Amino acid sequence: MLKVLVTGGAGYIGSHVVKILGERGCQIAVIDNLSSGSPKHVLYGNLWILDLSQKDKVLSILKEYQPEVVLHFAGSIVVEESVKEPLKYYENNVGNTIKLLCAMKEAKINKFIFSSSAAVYGIPEVIPVPETAELKPINPYGWTKVMIERILEDLSKAGEITYVSLRYFNVAGADKEGKIGPSYRKPTHLIIRALKAAKGELPFLEIYGTDYPTRDGTCIRDYIHVMDLAEAHFLAMEYLLDGGKSTVLNCGYGRGFSVREVIEEVKKVTKRDFKVIEREKRLGDPPVLIADNTKIKKVLNWTPFYDSLEFIIKTAWKWEIKN
Ligand code: UFG
Repeated sequence: MLKVLVTGGAGYIGSHVVKILGERGCQIAVIDNLSSGSPKHVLYGNLWILDLSQKDKVLSILKEYQPEVVLHFAGSIVVEESVKEPLKYYENNVGNTIKLLCAMKEAKINKFIFSSSAAVYGIPEVIPVPETAELKPINPYGWTKVMIERILEDLSKAGEITYVSLRYFNVAGADKEGKIGPSYRKPTHLIIRALKAAKGELPFLEIYGTDYPTRDGTCIRDYIHVMDLAEAHFLAMEYLLDGGKSTVLNCGYGRGFSVREVIEEVKKVTKRDFKVIEREKRLGDPPVLIADNTKIKKVLNWTPFYDSLEFIIKTAWKWEIKN
């Protein structure tokens, strides 16, 4: 039985990955400090409630458990907060990842899957953006991901690890069985906020910026269903276990929807109308972010199954009304 260790496995994306790993018979250890995740979302494996800053404890779990692969989701993810509290991001994301990598070295574990982000590209010059594009983040959150990728590259060149860094675009939706879903305490993401407006939990939805150089003036994003993303992690793990070389891969569908298009679809799926207010641009939002996904399709043979904005919103809505 394949043994894996998942950090941040109680969080949104981590818990969906734990679910498919569990369904496919992996033995799973989860480390999570529960700062944003919930133990109820860990459907398989053993959960250790622990912060990655506690390196000695992490080391003893690694030594005792001896996983073949570490999947590292734990980290802070709110772009705007990273601008206001950069040190929290550098400490939590970069600092704790270094501690984890040191512990892995000591425990002689050398396969690593990393949650990176499209935030590494900043405002890309080429759309859809390929992995070879220049890395020029426009916020500290994006910089933490670039720094970690740099560390991984150097470790890989030194022969210490092999890794896959997955650059997520806009992850959305929920488990289609409705068992788990997004678990943010203060959601900032568009689809979740629109659903909360449809539900009446928010009095209105704000559109941040309506004069972007796009088809309707609002930002365009590549929304990817969390279950397709979870599958990409599974394939990345198999790839490393088969002896695949270290690599960096975009995770997106290669098409985009504007904020207004998302709002229309949310109204259609939920059959509810809600108030929409046009506001100033949010700081640091790139106008268009769409993945060039040629590489992940080739390297991992990844085939998206849920490339439908309607399905993404339907699964997220099912989860939202249940909770
Ligand atoms: N938006 C609104 N109203 C809202 C929320 C969002 O108009 O209430 C807009 C944003 O301005 C943006 C788009 O909807 O144009 C998508 O915003 P999200 O907050 O849902 O997602 P982001 O594109 O800002 O963030 C995602 C990931 C980050 C990553 C970033 C890279 O969630 O982790 O892409 O730019 F860093």
